Amino acid sequence: MKDKKVLVIGGGGRCHAIVDALSRSPQVAKIFCAPGNAGIGLQAENVPIADTDVEALLSFAKGEGIDLTVVGPEASLAAGVVDAFRQAGLAIFGHSRSATRIESSKEFAKQLMARYGIPTAAYRSFTDFEAALDYVSSRPFPTVLKYDGLAAGKGVVIAEDLDQAREALHSMLCDGAFGQGKVVIEDFLTGPEFSFMCFVEGERVYPMPLSQDHKRAYDGDKGPNTGGMGAYTGLPFISEEDREYALEHILKATAKAMCAEGCPLSGVLYGGLMKTPDGVKVIEFNARFGDPETEVVLPLLRSDIYEVFHAVATASPLEAPQWEDAVTLGVVLASKGYPGHYEKGAEILGVENLDAQVYHMGTKLSDGRLLTAGGRVMMVVSRGSDIADARRKVYEQIARIKCDNLFYRKDIAHIALEYK
Ligand code: AMP
Ligand code: GLY
Repeated sequence: MKDKKVLVIGGGGRCHAIVDALSRSPQVAKIFCAPGNAGIGLQAENVPIADTDVEALLSFAKGEGIDLTVVGPEASLAAGVVDAFRQAGLAIFGHSRSATRIESSKEFAKQLMARYGIPTAAYRSFTDFEAALDYVSSRPFPTVLKYDGLAAGKGVVIAEDLDQAREALHSMLCDGAFGQGKVVIEDFLTGPEFSFMCFVEGERVYPMPLSQDHKRAYDGDKGPNTGGMGAYTGLPFISEEDREYALEHILKATAKAMCAEGCPLSGVLYGGLMKTPDGVKVIEFNARFGDPETEVVLPLLRSDIYEVFHAVATASPLEAPQWEDAVTLGVVLASKGYPGHYEKGAEILGVENLDAQVYHMGTKLSDGRLLTAGGRVMMVVSRGSDIADARRKVYEQIARIKCDNLFYRKDIAHIALEYK
C-alpha cells in the first residue's frame, strides 16, 4: 500500500538520488528531506533542519509520524542521529555512532583490518611529530599521511619527499588546523581504484554494482581534488573473480568483524578499493553512500528501495536486491573556479526536458529561475548498453544545458574506454 512517510537526512546529489529512488517505491506516499535542495524540492518536501540537528530531526520525525528515516551524510551518523532515533523507537537506516568509526576514525578502521586480516596497506599511527617524522624517514616515498578524524576528504596527503611529509605532518600534528592530532602513515599502493558499496545489516551483506568516481577537477585526472566530477558503473578492469574476492574477503569479512567487535553495521558500507598488483586492497571505508557514486548506482536498482532500507533498519531478512543489466554514466557540472573560488547565482537553462536523470547538488530556485548555488551544481546521468553508449548520450544531453558559469570534465570513464 502506498502509505509510507519517509524522511531523508541530507541535501546533496547523493540525497537527491536517494529521494529519486524512494519516489519510485510503490509503498512511499510522502518524502521529506532535511534540509534538501532545490532539485530535491521537486520530488520531496524540503524541511529546513540542519542534517546534524539531532533533536530537531527527532522531534520532526515524531511529529510527522515518519515510518522510516534514511541518513545520507556521515556528519549526521557521527552526530549520533541513529542512536537517538533508535532509542526513541523509530526506524532509521544508518549506522550507530560506534559503527560509524569505520569511517570517522582511520585508526579504528586500520586496526580492525589488521586484526581480522582484511587486505590493506601496511601502516603505523602517531600523535608525536618527531616520532612520525622518524618513521617517514625510514620508509620509501611517496608515502601516505592521513589525518585521523572526519576531514571531509581533505585529510589525506601523498608526500613525494621528506620536505612535503614534514610540512604535512606539522600541519596535522602541531598546528591544530585539523583539531585533534593523530596521523596514520601508510604505504603507497598503486592500481586502479573503484568503489564497492553494499547494504549491510549485521552479517548480512547485499552488494550494489561497482562504480568508479573521478576525484580530480580536470580532464586526464589532473588538477586539484574535488568532491567528485563524475562516475560510472560497469567497470571492465575488475573481473568477476576480483569482485567475488572483494565481496568475501573485504566487505563480508568487515561486516563479520564489526559484529565480533560489538558494533554491528546497519546501513551502507562503502569500500574504497584498489586493484593492486598484489590483489584488491582497502584504501578507505565509508559508513554511507558515496558521492557521486550513488547517483550512478541507485538508478540501476530494480527492487523497491523502501523494502531494502526498511529491512536493514529493522534487522529483518531481505531478498537480494535486483539490479538492471545496463551501465550508467554521470557527469558533474561545476561552477567555474571550483574547487577554488567561484561565483554563485548564474542562471541555468534547458534542464527541464533532458532525456537523462539530473541530480541537483548546489542549485537554488529564485522567482522560478534555476541558479547555481554551489561548487558542484548538478550531475547529469545517462544509461546505456555499454559505457561508450552511456557516455555519448550524457554529453549530448549536457550540450543542451545553457549556463555561462559551468564547466565539466569531457573524459568521464576514460580508464574504462582505454582498457584493453
Ligand atoms: P582516502 O580519503 O583514504 O580515500 O584517500 C584519498 C585518496 O588518496 C584515495 O582515493 C587515493 O587516491 C589516495 N590514497 C589513499 N591511500 C592511499 C594509499 N595507501 N596508496 C595510494 N594512494 C592512496
Ligand atoms: N566518492 C567518494 C566518497 O563518497 O567519499
